[in-house]
Amino acid sequence: MKTKIPLTRLWVHEARHQEAATNAIGRVLNAGKFVLGSEVEAFEREFSAFLGLSSGVGVGSGTDAITLGLMAGGIQTGDEVLVPAFAPSATASAIIATGATPVLVDITPDFGLDLAQARALLTARTRAVVVVHLFGGVDDMTPILGVAKAHNLWVVEDCAHAHGVRYWEKETQKWRMAGTMGDVGAFSFYPTKNLGGIGDGGFCCSMAAPVLERLRRLRQYGWRERDNSTQVGRNSRLDEIQAAILRCALKDLDHRNDQRRALARAYLEAFSSAKIAVPMLLPSLQTHCHHVFHQFVVRVAAREQLRRVLDDHGVEYGIHYPRALSQQSAFKAYTGGRPFPVAERTAAEVLSLPMHPYLSEHEIHYIVSALSDLHA
Ligand SMILES: Cc1ncc(COP(=O)(O)O)c(C=O)c1O
Repeated sequence: MKTKIPLTRLWVHEARHQEAATNAIGRVLNAGKFVLGSEVEAFEREFSAFLGLSSGVGVGSGTDAITLGLMAGGIQTGDEVLVPAFAPSATASAIIATGATPVLVDITPDFGLDLAQARALLTARTRAVVVVHLFGGVDDMTPILGVAKAHNLWVVEDCAHAHGVRYWEKETQKWRMAGTMGDVGAFSFYPTKNLGGIGDGGFCCSMAAPVLERLRRLRQYGWRERDNSTQVGRNSRLDEIQAAILRCALKDLDHRNDQRRALARAYLEAFSSAKIAVPMLLPSLQTHCHHVFHQFVVRVAAREQLRRVLDDHGVEYGIHYPRALSQQSAFKAYTGGRPFPVAERTAAEVLSLPMHPYLSEHEIHYIVSALSDLHA
């Protein structure tokens, strides 16, 4: 059946944004500086301000943002880095690119790092943890930061799904933006993200000026100034066209995030009055988190049945992620032979329903009523 409802729709596809996007590209063409020019500088300032920070560093991708974020903490070959076993392969690959060894940790049923297991896996070589804020939520950072502080771990927050998510910090009674709690926040601007460009892009933020300085060097050959490398770096720079486009997208990121939250509420309301024959776990509106619903992820043991019904009704869906890291041959070496029951069960059960700011309540009702066709 022809797709009636797509999984996602990008802001740049909206007619009213296309003129601004085209003008942004034109501006770069006219300026003629294509790498690390005024658009990247302006975007770094503007996105940092959005996060409540004074500065940040545009890089080539979200994967690179994690790698560079770890390198900025001196993470290297021989070090161990804790990472949840239910995460995209990008996160594990980013750790391996530093030369360090990822140590897979099972997750909690709400996609968080299983901190008890993480503690048990600490060794003299454990130097860092990558916390992955999945689907528009945020992991419970206070206890994670407590363990990190006690064991001197470098904390990188993988914020590829977390542009604008806020975490309620009970101790200070303050909301804190995802990406600003660990040592480095690592963002992706892949087109489908809540803040997405028209190609690859990424960003590292930090509260610490020396860390930002290191990140700036690391993204460009380790140069302190041109042709003077004071450390071994990479080539991973956000390009001017992406930065110019992202400046347009950033303007109404808050509004688009609000739309996603409102649509998530509409889903939950529609589900509350629907009769669905198979047990289904819906996303919870966690109290510690001001969610931005990058994805609307349901969990269901009868996933194949759900897929068939959605296919029959022309509703596109995603599976994020069909395999835990422990189930992929590239990462088997990092399991230490341990089982990952929660991560692997999660991979077998998750399904992402359509979620984007331009979805209508009518479409949500269509999707939820389609699911009422499921049979026990
Ligand atoms: C949670 C998470 N981390 C990291 C990445 C990697 O980002 P990028 O594709 O920009 O390299 C992704 C990409 O989809 C992601 O979803």
